[in-house]
Amino acid sequence: MTEAKLEAWLDEKRVFPPSESFVANANAKPSIYDEAKADPEAWWRKQAERLVWDKKPTSTLEWDLPNAKWFSDGTLNASVNCVDRHVAEGRGDKVAYYWVADADGESRTITYSELQKLVAKTANALVELGVKKGDRVAIYMPMIPEAVIAMLAVVRLGAAHSVVFGGFSADALSSRILDSDCRFVITADGAFRRGAPSPLKSAVDEALQSCPDVKTVLVVRRTGGDVHWVEGRDYWWHDVVDRQSDQHTPEFFPAEHTLFLMYTSGTTAKPKGIFHTTAGYLTQCAATYHYIFDVKPETDVLWTAADIGWITGHSYIVYGPLVLGATQIMYEGLPDSGGRDRWWRIVEQFKATVLYTAPTTIRTLMKWGDELPKSHDLSSLRLLGTVGEPINPEAWMWYRENVGRNNCPIVDTWWQTETGAIMITPLPGITATKPGAAMTPFPGISADVVDNEGNSVGNGEGGYLVITAPWPSMTRGIYGDPARFKSTYWDRFPGMYFAGDGAKRDEDGDLWLLGRIDDVMNISGHRLSTTEVEHALVGHPAVAEAAVVGATDDTTGQAIVAFVTLKLSAEDATKDQSHLVEELRQHVARVISPIAKPRQIILTPDLPKTRSGKIMRRLLRDVAENRSLGDVTTLMDPTVVNMISGLMQNEGTSED
Ligand code: WT7
Repeated sequence: MTEAKLEAWLDEKRVFPPSESFVANANAKPSIYDEAKADPEAWWRKQAERLVWDKKPTSTLEWDLPNAKWFSDGTLNASVNCVDRHVAEGRGDKVAYYWVADADGESRTITYSELQKLVAKTANALVELGVKKGDRVAIYMPMIPEAVIAMLAVVRLGAAHSVVFGGFSADALSSRILDSDCRFVITADGAFRRGAPSPLKSAVDEALQSCPDVKTVLVVRRTGGDVHWVEGRDYWWHDVVDRQSDQHTPEFFPAEHTLFLMYTSGTTAKPKGIFHTTAGYLTQCAATYHYIFDVKPETDVLWTAADIGWITGHSYIVYGPLVLGATQIMYEGLPDSGGRDRWWRIVEQFKATVLYTAPTTIRTLMKWGDELPKSHDLSSLRLLGTVGEPINPEAWMWYRENVGRNNCPIVDTWWQTETGAIMITPLPGITATKPGAAMTPFPGISADVVDNEGNSVGNGEGGYLVITAPWPSMTRGIYGDPARFKSTYWDRFPGMYFAGDGAKRDEDGDLWLLGRIDDVMNISGHRLSTTEVEHALVGHPAVAEAAVVGATDDTTGQAIVAFVTLKLSAEDATKDQSHLVEELRQHVARVISPIAKPRQIILTPDLPKTRSGKIMRRLLRDVAENRSLGDVTTLMDPTVVNMISGLMQNEGTSED
């Protein structure tokens, strides 16, 4: 689409009213906004009735900023809520997951009663291996059913899982294991990517060299082939789990019992162990899934195309959908595993009704052309969702026209690892949608856009997104670091949660999210901090100093651009350095993850600094995006910037 056409859309302020067919049957009725507004706590209390409790709570919210407790005198078991209760209520034969393998066309159907047995066996196996209430268990797995089963078995015992995305490096895994003192790891021998096996267990072996307290590793066989084996530490899943009883009597835990940890990048080099507790989290996951995705458990086949290694997978592949007893598609592969029309074949084969994915993937699918979705029957789809980064209107329109055939509402859902569940979103059947806008806080959520002083901005103005009242699925903190929790989120604007995102309120009062305003980058919907990548670069022996910025990228939203000065002898400096650039990119992939590999590395003799010695990232961002440079008078040496711009123009962009 041309710039002009895009502008025309924006000028038109295109609005899509809810379709008639949706209004009639929507789970969400307009009255729920009023109901929640009149008494938010009563509203959430009602949402908590979706859970099965051992002891029903009498309390709702206890709030002592920044510490919230929800439903605190209730007791429950998360895995019972996700699995056993559906079997007990007569829905055991219902499909929980259609699991679809990476490239070979294999699939596996798992009903709720099968899931119950698998979770019970796994829980029994974990008991045998010594997992106890209060422990932390690291899960480092591909998108296979055992990942979900492992999560549910861990929480069934009152332990907490810490799922580490399978794309992370051994270093990233070990630092997460150490930070939360995990004693157990559940993994697989390897994962499939576009039909080819790639090892996972070897990264665990490497990570554990610096984690002496991990005494037990449970390994699923997925790819076959040889793996390094430590007798007495490593156990095959099929040896230990398969022989267990499929009966397991659950214990019940307090509502505020820790359910899981999820590491996410902040503005420093050290990722934060965001932790969530049980009842409030489950309540909001289920309520949002029910209303936003309009779930009809009897007939829907829902597909959240995300990885279990991120919060989206936790909340909308595992906990939210399972509490509702939904039927889902779980897909192991990449969008082009087995061909670029793979997604559309899956939608067609399983008659998916709801698809939830990230803008970066939508843009990739869009690049592959309109013909692919057109050549498949996508008529089962009735609702589309997007999450992870601001969606550009062009991608939104493509999604609507080519995937939704102009008759599926699109829900653009804003939330974070820290918020646990969706916070700002249209509701299908109620909210008229605008391409690129997340629109409105979910019922029971209070959000605002404020200026530098914390005052609410008017319509047509921009500022910082804040949440002004506690919500059930909010993080209960950063593992082991309550001071950092308070200072990161609660000190910027007194009494409010500071999300780190810029936002604007349009003339109608609707919300548009504008991206991070801090040093957090969003690469294909993955969060990474500039400092984290700088840290990795400086760890390389040839690097003296590094400055990293996120630059706008057509496909990945943002891409990493690194400016690096080298520790070089005069002799080295005259040599061709192109091999070094590639080596540095690989180095970052090794230290953090391939997703953190810089798109571009500019080797420069100097970095622009203020007179006080701070690197001027804003300037570098302008350079990286070819913007005009604005005021450089505070620079120690203004010529550095011109020099870097020059270097930038001579550099090719490496892509893979
Ligand atoms: C950051 C949180 C929530 C699951 C995936 C990401 C950005 C998220 C949107 C959206 C604009 C969005 C924000 C936020 N973000 N959804 N619909 N529109 N921006 O979770 O890794 O914790 O990242 O993702 O910048 O702060 P996360």
